[in-house]
Amino acid sequence: MAEVSQAGVSDDPDGGNAKFKKSSHVAFYRRQMQGPNLQHRALLDTLVLTEKGAHFELLESDKQTRLLLSLSPCKNDTVRILIDELQPIKARYRVPDVVTAEPQCEQLRVETRTKNSVTLSWPPGRHQVRVWHFPFQLEILCENEVIVTFNSKGKLWFEAIQEPPRVTSHGSEQQLQQDDTSLLWRETFKQFVDVKANGPSSIGADLCLHGFSHVYGLPEHADSLQLKDTRDGEPYRLYNLDVFGYELYSRLGLYGSVPLLVAHKPDRTLGVFWLNASETFVNIHYSLTDHQAHLAKRPRQQPLTDVHWLSESGVIDCMVLLGPSPQQLFSQYAQLTGYQALPPLFALGYHQCRWNYNDEADVKAVDAGFDHHNIPYDVIWLDIEHTDGKRYFTWDPVHFPEPENLQQHLEKKKRKLVVISDPHIKVDPNWSLYCEARDGGHFVKDREGQLYQGSCWPGKSSYLDFSSPATRAWYSRCFGLNKYKGSTPSLFVWNDMNEPSVFYGPEQTMPKDVVHYGGWEHREVHNLYGFHQHMATAEGLITRSGGSERPFVLTRSFFAGSQRLGAVWTGDNVATWEYLKISIPMLLSLSVTGIVFCGADVGGFAQDPGPELLVRWYQAAALQPFFRGHSAKTTKRREPWVFGEVVTAAIRTAIQQRYCLLPYWYTLFYQAHTCGLPPLRPLWVEFPKEQSTLSVDSQYMIGRALLACPVTEPGVQEVEVLLPGSDETWYDIHSAEAYKGGRTLSLPVTLDTLPVFQRAGSVVFRSTGSGSCTAELQRLPLTITVGLNSQGAADGDLYLDDGHSFNYRDRKAFCVRRFNMLSGRLLCRPASDEGTFACDTVIQSVIILGLKLKPSKVVVHVSGTKDTSAAFQYTGSCSMLTVRSLNLRVAQDWDLQII
Ligand code: NOJ
Repeated sequence: MAEVSQAGVSDDPDGGNAKFKKSSHVAFYRRQMQGPNLQHRALLDTLVLTEKGAHFELLESDKQTRLLLSLSPCKNDTVRILIDELQPIKARYRVPDVVTAEPQCEQLRVETRTKNSVTLSWPPGRHQVRVWHFPFQLEILCENEVIVTFNSKGKLWFEAIQEPPRVTSHGSEQQLQQDDTSLLWRETFKQFVDVKANGPSSIGADLCLHGFSHVYGLPEHADSLQLKDTRDGEPYRLYNLDVFGYELYSRLGLYGSVPLLVAHKPDRTLGVFWLNASETFVNIHYSLTDHQAHLAKRPRQQPLTDVHWLSESGVIDCMVLLGPSPQQLFSQYAQLTGYQALPPLFALGYHQCRWNYNDEADVKAVDAGFDHHNIPYDVIWLDIEHTDGKRYFTWDPVHFPEPENLQQHLEKKKRKLVVISDPHIKVDPNWSLYCEARDGGHFVKDREGQLYQGSCWPGKSSYLDFSSPATRAWYSRCFGLNKYKGSTPSLFVWNDMNEPSVFYGPEQTMPKDVVHYGGWEHREVHNLYGFHQHMATAEGLITRSGGSERPFVLTRSFFAGSQRLGAVWTGDNVATWEYLKISIPMLLSLSVTGIVFCGADVGGFAQDPGPELLVRWYQAAALQPFFRGHSAKTTKRREPWVFGEVVTAAIRTAIQQRYCLLPYWYTLFYQAHTCGLPPLRPLWVEFPKEQSTLSVDSQYMIGRALLACPVTEPGVQEVEVLLPGSDETWYDIHSAEAYKGGRTLSLPVTLDTLPVFQRAGSVVFRSTGSGSCTAELQRLPLTITVGLNSQGAADGDLYLDDGHSFNYRDRKAFCVRRFNMLSGRLLCRPASDEGTFACDTVIQSVIILGLKLKPSKVVVHVSGTKDTSAAFQYTGSCSMLTVRSLNLRVAQDWDLQII
């Protein structure tokens, strides 16, 4: 795609991203933004209370459109606002497969009624919804305070589906009449004409978030973590597109979309989830108001944020998640759209990719290079050239004649192979897989009902219809070991180009009038395309193993809920410092919207990084969830050892340190899997009350214990780090030195170091070595680092299981151990009664930071055995105690007493 995309951009007289639309090119956006506000009334007499909440009718004054509004308050402090036509002439699309389980609803009861409003509450007295008759507004109140007003600015918009305009025949072609109405039924962009089967059917609504001046989320954009006020430019666009070398600080759509906006203020985190998979824009206006001025002695200005959502079709399905803490918000969102899949441990190791490794000998040489240079890694990747003529599920007979041998070669060292599998299928009537898909009706059709053909890597291609359950099941079966010749259980998958990317298509994607399963137009399902492919692939790998092994699938395109299926990366970035810098807010935005297993191509996909940039990128990415080096076809080779020993050593250190920290990362993924907490967290998630953290996106927390501040500029000798919390202490993980929080620190760095701090009060788990891959790492003993807080206390959990199967789920074969230090005693105990896992992992050493006085003795107490005293070392200059050679089993209860 490099060639095509780059050619597309540079050929265009408008320059830059002219092959992509701006909002002004989009008819439904113009209609909603330029048209007058529609006036809606809530017909309060039509109110019906049901077991699932309440519903009532809305009437739009001009066209007299009647809408049905359903309100469902749910047990987990979320409210669903669903608006559809009351009597549609045909059903409108509702997004399937994203919401995992219908949330448990609560009963509403009428609290007060006036002529102009009705107030409903759930559970009595705690939350309320007040519905205003005219102009229609809906307020959500928590403890009597209005938090959210729906339709505050009167932007509610709902274009009812109408009968198509009259058609006349011209020759053999049917053409729409060219009057004003029919113009609404077709839209032109460049040479592309979009014929709309349902005509104009867009929707929109605004919500006012009271008291909020910071909002986040809405990936994927190459922009800051805090969303910007859109009055001075483009709205945030959610429309999945293949954008090579995307523009920075832009709100244009990229590869994936999550329509979740997260708002935060010191006493509340709130979410607005707009469940719609069609093209969507979001406008954000920050402002101040004299809210409650009449109540205060002096008028008090309050911040507020107006959020205006506009989508091309579907229904209004808007869920407000009330938090109030960031942790509760993440949990509410995960309850709706699912939790992060627990990755196999190897997937958290380092991945080595390039477009392309040329042949089997090349792969083996790179694999050997890692051993030779003593650099751990787990997975090597093959891009499109490994196939026979870009036919996925096949192998190039010349360069990859013995794929099974290759995988066995890697598997002997417990390493894996990942291959690419894109959604386009080469049109080749002599290829059985193509014929099967065609004959099975698994391809999308054009609006005339013929097989749709677009163009991608193989040339003329058809596109699988992943919105169809039957197609997904068929595709899943293609990964069966008998069917996928040359595959073995150690082969995993990469789904790319699944926005979908269609060369020479409108905005390099599929025309919106292509037809999917159920007769739905592509416009309805566009943002779900990659999500559904990812789903079918992950399902295929699970089925391949008889349901016993965890899959690993990386996808480029995604939607809300993709976290259940695997990992996501940020696509075709460029080898410059700016792209390294933007990777942090991009990954944080993904993390706060549930897509927590995310990463950016290390080194930059396009162009060649200099050695310093490459080192800094490895260091940053080693501290991010998905860690893969990748580069484009035309770039120079850049395996970690090609720049000379200094660079190799720095990269080695970064990767080794990542491996050492994997016990901690794996535990964070378990927490994401069970609680919805992202491993990578903006500072405000951990310090919700600290105003100074709200716009920070150059540093972040890894879990609750570590703060990282990657170096993203060249030639840097000193880095400014914000250490939040005036009552916190932070331990520099390199020097063990303690720093008070609540200030910005200047920290010297060398090419080998970047600032990472451990928060006082936490425990961090590391392996005592890195091994050559995660399988080896699992056998190594651990070190725990206890960072004491001012009360001399600290705690942290450690999760362990076999690292690859579903036994943790099906047989509860796991353990979570809690390490708790208080009053000079470190306890190792079960964190809960759940789970049993026979494991031999031992804690070899314990490091305690912040121990003010040298102890006289360290006593080890293991239940059922006699107490022993342990040798220790105390470094007064940094108040650090080190106890080595302990060999205490993690699975056993024990105490360490510092006397
Ligand atoms: C585009 C992807 O973003 C890139 O990572 C990949 O190498 C190329 N497609 C070729 O498959």
